Amino acid sequence: MMPQVVTCPTAASAANLAPFVIDEAGLEQGQDQFSRFGFAVLGPAALTNEAIQQLRAEAAKQRNAASWPLRYGDARSQVPEANVRGHFGPSARGFLSGDSVLRLMQTITGQAVSPSWSASCYTWYDIPGAWLGRHLDKQDACFLTMLVGLESHWPADSTPPPGNQLWIYDSFLASRPLFRITTLVNRITILDGKRWPHERRPVQEGQHASVLCACFRAAEL
Ligand SMILES: [Fe+2]
Repeated sequence: MMPQVVTCPTAASAANLAPFVIDEAGLEQGQDQFSRFGFAVLGPAALTNEAIQQLRAEAAKQRNAASWPLRYGDARSQVPEANVRGHFGPSARGFLSGDSVLRLMQTITGQAVSPSWSASCYTWYDIPGAWLGRHLDKQDACFLTMLVGLESHWPADSTPPPGNQLWIYDSFLASRPLFRITTLVNRITILDGKRWPHERRPVQEGQHASVLCACFRAAEL
């Protein structure tokens, strides 16, 4: 079953979206994709070089200074997974606090949202076996999500392996994903993750990926 078509307001134009570098055609394509499939893939490049480098540098710092392993069965995790999470620093908080982010979310999804700070973090899949099990996002804390690709590496001369992709399913029981979105540096995926089950298969030796995971609540209007 496909998601309902959403009529999207034109809250943003390419001219008022800095630090995003998405042109009008990209916005229209993103709206159309989200309304039909429940996700939109933007870029690369989705952000200015300066903005993505700031986030990548901050993430590298946070990986060393402010990260923790998350594993199913510990007190924090509620889905099958094993990966590393990290707190945002001022760059990520500043980025997500900007009007452009909310404007872009509303334009692509048709939904007014606000940041859900407690559900948002850096995430690393940089240890062999790191993964994220098939799950749905929480209706309240993660009504919609924005994933910013920060790092993605796999062995040369091979196609992007599963650990470097986000797989999206039409149901929990589906044997094959409907879509496989490859994580790339400076690619952004906006996802209705409360509606569409998604996962990351385990990374293998020689692979790693990291993303900025921003969750949003439905705004109270
Ligand atoms: Fe999720």
